[in-house]
Amino acid sequence: MDKKIEKIKGEIKCFHIKTYNDLETFRIKFISKKKGIITSLFKELKKISIYKKKIYGKIINELKKEVQNKINIFQSQNNNDKILKFDPTVPGKSIEIGGLHPLSIIKNRIIDIFMKIGFTYVYGPEIEDDWHNFTALNIPIYHPSRDMQDTFFLCKNPDILLRTHTSSVQIRYMKKHKPPFRVLSIGKVYRNETISSRSNFMFHQTEGFYIDKKVSFYDLKQTIDYLITSIFGKVKIRFRPSYFPFTEPSAEVDIYCNNGWIEIMGCGMIDPQVLKNVNINSETYSGFAFGLGIERLALIIYQIKDIRIYFNNDIRFLKQFKNEF
Ligand code: DAH
Repeated sequence: MDKKIEKIKGEIKCFHIKTYNDLETFRIKFISKKKGIITSLFKELKKISIYKKKIYGKIINELKKEVQNKINIFQSQNNNDKILKFDPTVPGKSIEIGGLHPLSIIKNRIIDIFMKIGFTYVYGPEIEDDWHNFTALNIPIYHPSRDMQDTFFLCKNPDILLRTHTSSVQIRYMKKHKPPFRVLSIGKVYRNETISSRSNFMFHQTEGFYIDKKVSFYDLKQTIDYLITSIFGKVKIRFRPSYFPFTEPSAEVDIYCNNGWIEIMGCGMIDPQVLKNVNINSETYSGFAFGLGIERLALIIYQIKDIRIYFNNDIRFLKQFKNEF
């Protein structure tokens, strides 16, 4: 027994473990249940006297501990089991990257287009008072055009409401700044409308305006032309006479698309009365303004049939815009 034990001790010491395969061979050789040399020594213990059993039992247990120690040392030195098991050839887990909402894509495109021709981008509040949203824009209290823009009132007298259009930004900006300026603003507007495939109680509008000396309708046409060709390429554009209380003359702009004219925006020369309301001398300065709905523009660009799809968070719809910027 002693000789055997000495031999095994020597073998344990001399065994070089370099790889995980070596480690496994080492483990099997000494302590595996079926083949392990030390395991078989334990079996032999059964055959000897109780006195010797005690002595050898202790020694064999120590041998087993040595084996276990060697295994532990190797494992702690190469401890990163995970690193050894890591296979760099396995394809990684792909992380889904979100995308911009189609309305944000269009909004960013419009901002880009106007930044190139020197417009400044500004924000305006969604909660407005009557004066900024209506009165200063030449829409006095009993004016019939208010009917088309009923909205949600937060309080009455003084009237505080959710803005019905971004034209209110014109008033806010013009009151604070001296011309000349070129300004663009995009944001949410609200109206008391029944939800349908074509309308919603909330939508997004772009407002642009330019005031300087000698700004004419010609500048307005050029700017609209530039905007439309930047978005749609070469298309036919039509200016149709129209009416807005805050512009004179006013026009609706249509583009020729899918064998028909589609209205996309309103515009006009800022009414001198509006300039007076914000203390800008209408003899020296003139300007143009325009407004267009982002949802409507996106309907045309993406050939979408129902405006509600923008807002119901359907991932199958939103995913289609993932790669657009
Ligand atoms: N504010 C108008 C609307 O909501 C849109 C509009 C039309 C804005 C003509 C303008 C403009 O600045 O000149 O219906």
